[in-house]
Amino acid sequence: MRVFMAMTDVGADPCMIRLMPSGRESLCRPGQTLLDAAIRSGMTVPYGCRHGTCASCKAKVLEGDYELMPRVSEFALMSFERDEGYILMCSTLPQGDMVVEVDEEDVEPGIEIFPITDFRAEIVSNVAVTPDIHVLRLKLKQPGDVVYTAGQYFEFNIPGLPETRAYSMATTYSCGNTMEFHVKRVPQGVGSNFLCDLVKGASVTGSGPYGRMQLGSRERNLIFVAGGSGLAPIKALVEKVFSEDFRKEAWLFYGARTGKDLYLVPEWVHMAEKYPNFHFIPALSNKDDEKPWNGEEGYIADVVSRKMAGIENAHAFLCGPPIMIETTLKSLYKLGLYSSDISYDEF
Ligand SMILES: Cc1cc2nc3c(=O)[nH]c(=O)nc-3n(C[C@H](O)[C@H](O)[C@H](O)COP(=O)(O)OP(=O)(O)OC[C@H]3O[C@@H](n4cnc5c(N)ncnc54)[C@H](O)[C@@H]3O)c2cc1C
Ligand code: FES
Repeated sequence: MRVFMAMTDVGADPCMIRLMPSGRESLCRPGQTLLDAAIRSGMTVPYGCRHGTCASCKAKVLEGDYELMPRVSEFALMSFERDEGYILMCSTLPQGDMVVEVDEEDVEPGIEIFPITDFRAEIVSNVAVTPDIHVLRLKLKQPGDVVYTAGQYFEFNIPGLPETRAYSMATTYSCGNTMEFHVKRVPQGVGSNFLCDLVKGASVTGSGPYGRMQLGSRERNLIFVAGGSGLAPIKALVEKVFSEDFRKEAWLFYGARTGKDLYLVPEWVHMAEKYPNFHFIPALSNKDDEKPWNGEEGYIADVVSRKMAGIENAHAFLCGPPIMIETTLKSLYKLGLYSSDISYDEF
């Protein structure tokens, strides 16, 4: 078996990948990753970030040559694992037919798997809502073809970049042909600056939907925790659950550094007035003394610990930067939630 650690030219013919122990097979196009080929053909392999950092898609190569993309993080796949033939499916380009050992998942009840579709869309509006977050609305050019649900994300093609960038939908499918994304402008970030600079009428392309951070049972209390542009998928999830006849309690914890970094606050306040079982709890970690603030202060993980003491029968959805996810997970475990009670995307 050969393992190439640098990008090389791929052959022009598709190859066959076989997953074991199921024996299911799929064609993989030149330049397509193993994960992309598997999920586009309907295989339910585990995955998360699709960018070589979360390690959810780890698998073992039984046969075949492949190229591991340079983006694979050393923490997600350690050297000794690489030596033993382990790979991250999202960042592996087959160089011929391959046989790979991976646990195909039993999809949880209530989790929907949709076909991955390539999309083309036009920018309808692009509004800066904080000093670094833009809300982009896109109109699909092939309405009806892209089916998705709240909590999922799409991959965008970025001019000049060989790799795509993922952005989570802030709207539910019932919103029709218009999709909303919240993009944080990262300093020197190629993808985020490209998207934040798009003007009305510009075209974008990509594919999706991806991701399993979806609403499962509606018979549990729901804890939503968002930081920064992580509010996007959380907004879609909250809006979806309250578009139904939801009878349990739901809390939205929304953390930001200063008041300037919060957005959509009037909309959440309005929603809390409309639904007595929805509770909106914004918190600032670095309160701006010039502006009055009557909300919670401190890191969102500590606010969750304080407010959720004694919570039972709950599922939590988290989305935000890695440090927020790490600290909030600790808080939730201390409150008695298990990892199976928590879904999250970090970025
Ligand atoms: C499943 C998933 C869903 C996502 N959804 C969203 C979303 O809804 N909204 C959104 O804004 N982003 C989202 N992201 C993050 C997004 O995909 C990009 O990683 C991010 O926009 C940075 O890309 P870039 O090309 O601008 O930066 P790059 O050119 O990749 O990076 C430039 C520099 O910035 C650093 N950097 C990268 N990301 C960040 C960050 N988030 N904060 C600070 N520094 C960073 C890098 O380490 C690098 O040094 C999501 C990521 C994943 C995996
Ligand atoms: S490393 Fe996250 S999906 Fe592959």
